[in-house]
Amino acid sequence: MKEIKNMSRPKGSRVSGIGVYRPKRKVTNEEIAPLIDSSDKWIRERSGIIQRRYASVEETVAAMAIAACEEALKDSKISSTDIDLVILATATNPAQLPNLAMEIATKIGATKAGAYDIGAACSGFSYGLSIASQAVLSGECRNVLIVGSERMTDFVSEKDRGTAFLFADGAGAFVVSPSEKTEISAPTWGADGNLNDWICMTKDWPTYMNEKDGDFPALKMEGQKVFRWAITEMVGVAHKTLEKAGIGVDDLGAFVPHQANQRITDHIAKSLNLPPHVAIARDGVNMGNTTAATIPLALDTLRRNGEVKSGDLALLMGFGAGLAYSGQVIVVP
Ligand code: UT7
Repeated sequence: MKEIKNMSRPKGSRVSGIGVYRPKRKVTNEEIAPLIDSSDKWIRERSGIIQRRYASVEETVAAMAIAACEEALKDSKISSTDIDLVILATATNPAQLPNLAMEIATKIGATKAGAYDIGAACSGFSYGLSIASQAVLSGECRNVLIVGSERMTDFVSEKDRGTAFLFADGAGAFVVSPSEKTEISAPTWGADGNLNDWICMTKDWPTYMNEKDGDFPALKMEGQKVFRWAITEMVGVAHKTLEKAGIGVDDLGAFVPHQANQRITDHIAKSLNLPPHVAIARDGVNMGNTTAATIPLALDTLRRNGEVKSGDLALLMGFGAGLAYSGQVIVVP
């Protein structure tokens, strides 16, 4: 039998660059509270959020993703023409099709790249990072861009008490490249479709179109149930991820969980018994929950503040709608 010989595979994969886009408009709790009969105090105490960013009309999912990708390419010093695949993780493409990754690839000049979108909501970035890593490890792609970009404000009702103060807009991207060493660990991922109605839309589009004067489909969430699931299940996921990477909590430089709620982060960090030298990402305090964009945004803040340095190990962990989760350990670029 003949075989294909022309395929070289790198020993490992790495994150070679990080880029983000934070929408210009900052929105305080005071601005949101009157619409949901809430207060700055309640929102801070229950979620840790002080402010978030809302995108303008011009700051579309694609526009924010393009800005994040361009910054990530600059950080990695890799040319856009050396990108072979662009993956967009998003839950907020305003149209059913086309996927937005093609527009992003074209506008950043990734003329040789394949491009597609993935879902998986709040786990989307971590899922996409694993796919990107596998594409590099297989030898099929030299460099891959994974970007999470969201306009949650398009799909959250400003009057919904359970979600309006949590969700927000933004984008973040990693460039994934070949390496001589393993710098992105195998993922721990999973999904429980039995719990899919804990975070879902109020209705689907055909139902909305058949109604005469219905409200648009918006996000709804069983907040308490999701909270309990996250603080119990994600601790085991974190341990398994560390085990797969062959490291312990003492080896970590940073813990970067999905920025759903600072109280969830506190619970998981406490259960993991993280030593004091591990920086814990708290970007959600100023950015809210940007679904597939929280992890790169949060790591960017830790890097900018000097809380992690190049070469440190970071445990990333996404979790949310599906319900789904995904985690991996990376070497910080
Ligand atoms: O990204 C996807 C993953 N998402 C998550 O992980 C989110 C997980 N869930 C959460 O973060 C939390 O459940 C919330 C922040 C959404 C809610 O916090 P909570 O501590 O679970 O509040 P609760 O729903 O148990 O409500 C507590 C009280 C209730 O009043 P009583 O019955 O104690 O008098 C609610 O009516 O707070 C009241 N309440 C509010 N008060 C002011 C509920 N929502 C609000 C509000 N403002 N927005």
